Parts: sequence; C-alpha cells; structure tokens
Amino acid sequence: MATSERNMLLNYVPVFVMLPLGVVSVSNVFEDPAGLKEQLLQLRAAGVDGVMVDVWWGITEQKGPKQYDWGAYRSLFQLIQECGLKLQAIMSFHQCGGNVGDAVNIPIPQWVLDIGESNPDIFYTDVSGTRNKEYLTVGVDNERIFHGRTAIELYSDYMKSFRENMSDFLKSELIIDIEVGLGPAGELRYPSYPQSQGWEYPGIGEFQCYDNYLKSRFQSGSNKGWPS
Ligand SMILES: *[C@@H]1O[C@H](CO)[C@@H](O)[C@H](O)[C@H]1NC(C)=O
Repeated sequence: MATSERNMLLNYVPVFVMLPLGVVSVSNVFEDPAGLKEQLLQLRAAGVDGVMVDVWWGITEQKGPKQYDWGAYRSLFQLIQECGLKLQAIMSFHQCGGNVGDAVNIPIPQWVLDIGESNPDIFYTDVSGTRNKEYLTVGVDNERIFHGRTAIELYSDYMKSFRENMSDFLKSELIIDIEVGLGPAGELRYPSYPQSQGWEYPGIGEFQCYDNYLKSRFQSGSNKGWPS
C-alpha cells in the first residue's frame, strides 16, 4: 500500500448523522419508513457511514414497569441495516422537550411520573421548591421506590432488555456504538437553567439539591453508595 493511501485510512473519520428526534413517535410507531428510506439512501450515496438515534425510555417502557416494546425500533434498525448504514444507539433516560432544538415532546414514562405525583422528591428541586421532571434526581439512584426497583435498576434493566432484544443487530455489527444519557438532555449535569422554567440567557442558574433525598444525605454527611 502506498504511504499516501495508508495515511488516508489512518486519518479516516467516520461520519454519523443524527436522525430526527421523533422518528419513532411518542406512541411507539415508526411512522414513515418509506420517507426515511429515501433519506437514508441519499445519506449512503453521499458517503455517510451511519446514523445516530435516541432510544427513548419514555417510549419503549411506557406501558408499565418492565413492559418493554422494542418493535418500532427494531423496524427502524432493520431499515438502517438494509440501507447499508451503521448505527449509534443512545440510551435516553431523559425527557425530550423543553431544551434547545427539541421539536417533539417525549416525557419520561407515565408510571414513573405517577410515582412523582405522590412523591415529588424523585425530581430535581431548587431552593424555592420548583421541581424539574426532565430526569430523576441522582438522589433516588439507590432508593427502592419504583415498584421494588431503584432508579439505577430501572436504567440497567432497560439496557439489559435492549441488549437481549437487539442481539442480532449487535452480532451483525449494525450497532457499533452505544451511548448512555446521564442527565437532562442526555448530559451529565443538573437541570439548573431550563428555559421552560423561565431561565433566560445569560442568567444565572439555580442549585438543584433540594429534593428530600439529597437534603437528608447532606444532613447526615453520608456518602454511602457515592463515588468519593
Ligand atoms: C423484541 O421485542 C419485540 C417487540 O417488543 C418482540 O416482538 C420480540 O419477540 C423481541 N425479540 C427478542 C429476541 O426478545
């Protein structure tokens, strides 16, 4: 191989394109396979390597605890595979909606929101008691309050089910990358400056440490189960 050719391979940067947020609808339907196929083929023809797609917790576990429905995502992944593209799958445990560029609304599962009706401390809370329902507070990570499971178990069960259900797509190397969302908008951060709650650029944010779980940890000085 000529040096210039080898350098080209070494410098190869794969290009992935993010699919629209609502490609699988909030009611868990892959709505426009024909339209998407056309777009995927155009991407392929343009030399794009693959696509990235959010796999929403609020869509696939919406019927009830552990009642996963991967059907719509399976049809989507099958199409992506047929079009010769690769896939980066994002495990999205946050709400879609209320952040920059969010064109669709996908809340976290209703049965989780229902738990928050009687126990609003499962959500990030600021000093004036404003709750944020985009993501569960890290304060409940190890609290067994979700029909017998902790929040960490909700997330890990979800990912185990995904791995099981998508094992063929993992084997065929369609899915070459899995990313895990860790907070609001999928980012490892607090929801300190939501526009949906009146924040305006470049205003200051609010601390989000006032749910009872985080408060009692702080008061007891306990670091149990937390990275030191
Ligand atoms: C994957 O999920 C779909 C829909 O939820 C189901 O019909 C199918 O049997 C599952 N496949 C596996 C291998 O678990």
